[in-house]
Amino acid sequence: MKRSAQIRTGPVHRGHKFLNVRWLILSIFVVCFLISGLRFADNKAEPYPLVYPANFGGRINVPSNNPTTREGVALGRKLFYEKKLSADNSMSCGTCHRQKLAFTDGLAFSVGVDKSLTSRNSMSLVNLLWVRNFFWDGRSASLEDQAVFPMTNEHEMGQSLETSVRKLQQTPGYREMFRKAFGEGDIDADKIRKALAQFERTLISADSPYDRYLAGTYQPTPQELRGMNLFMDAPAPERQVRGANCGHCHGGPKTFKELFHNNGLDAEPADSGREVVSRQAEDKGRFRVPTLRNIALTAPYMHDGRFGTLDEVLDHYNEHIRDSPTLSSFLKGVSNEKGGRTLMLTSGEKADILAFLNMLTDTTFINNPAFSDPD
Ligand code: HEC
Ligand code: HEC
Repeated sequence: MKRSAQIRTGPVHRGHKFLNVRWLILSIFVVCFLISGLRFADNKAEPYPLVYPANFGGRINVPSNNPTTREGVALGRKLFYEKKLSADNSMSCGTCHRQKLAFTDGLAFSVGVDKSLTSRNSMSLVNLLWVRNFFWDGRSASLEDQAVFPMTNEHEMGQSLETSVRKLQQTPGYREMFRKAFGEGDIDADKIRKALAQFERTLISADSPYDRYLAGTYQPTPQELRGMNLFMDAPAPERQVRGANCGHCHGGPKTFKELFHNNGLDAEPADSGREVVSRQAEDKGRFRVPTLRNIALTAPYMHDGRFGTLDEVLDHYNEHIRDSPTLSSFLKGVSNEKGGRTLMLTSGEKADILAFLNMLTDTTFINNPAFSDPD
């Protein structure tokens, strides 16, 4: 508005006016260029290469206002293990997300600063680069957004972002790290969230025996191969195909598909899951399909940690699916025997599937020094 007003009020001829507009546009370009140049000069952070196998697919999520940089990731890693981000300086993200346990904590429910329990089971932090809806109910749309929940929740780290900013400002070294990652300007809450998200995006697991099998560098045992087929195939007794159809939801090289499903844990769920977010009755008892990567390390299982072992998980899918209006049709009355009402896998077949699940353990990931506490 202001721009055209200026042009119109000038005592100029048509030709000059045209010229003026051109000059104006040109100078706007020059100014924009200078501003971006200044910002670039201000922030010399070096891009961090996110390396992953092609079969993971290119649908990754990196917001344009938070590119992954080496300096940002280094800061995010330090913050991930920073206990000053909690009310009593006792707890960091790493307390409930331990690398050796594929970033879970081995508990059914985690213990927060106020000694109360979280309402759900801690989730494995792995291959988050491909996730679009975070948490068991998918209520958070980005890692930048997600990090605020545990930091400020009174039953988790229990501290306001303002207090966290102040504590970091008073801790030697942080100002310099923030400056290196984000350029001039003081530490603020936005940068804390961004740095944490950058670090989390680097938590890529792609070196399990299953990955190596897919890459053609690992020969599975006959039992692992049988387990893999049972895991992937849908049962079709009329065609003599036996299977457990796990791959329908946990399939693909990343072992999860971004879906919400009711996997038959309860006829009447205590936690209604996705319904809390969507307020749609059809989402009652539906939860996000979790990754099965490193699953042998992340017991106990399910959103409420109700199963202590993978044997119990397999028993659940094989013989204890609870019917309800929202139960996934892929788990309803599916059987390996004609007329069967449950999956009816043999104990040998369950052992085979277990062997396949053990192939998903990525020891390179859990021992990667780049993901550990830097101090
Ligand atoms: C007190 C334990 C606790 C602490 C501390 C904690 N988390 Fe979590 N985290 C959880 C639990 C429990 C869930 C699942 C909660 C839910 O779904 O409602 C979770 C879920 C997540 C998820 C979602 C993963 C996915 O696949 O959707 C991310 C990401 C995450 N946490 C990152 C962090 C970060 C970053 C911090 C530190 C700022 C942190 N957590 C601190 C317990 C904790
Ligand atoms: C219809 C989709 C679907 C199918 C089919 C399915 N699952 Fe799941 N699975 C889920 C969902 C959803 C969850 C999370 C449920 C919850 O916690 O409430 C889950 C959770 C799990 C967990 C626990 C993960 C964790 O981090 O706690 C394991 C292990 C698992 N499934 C293994 C299997 C196996 C093995 C099969 C085949 C026998 C299978 N699933 C078939 C949807 C499915």
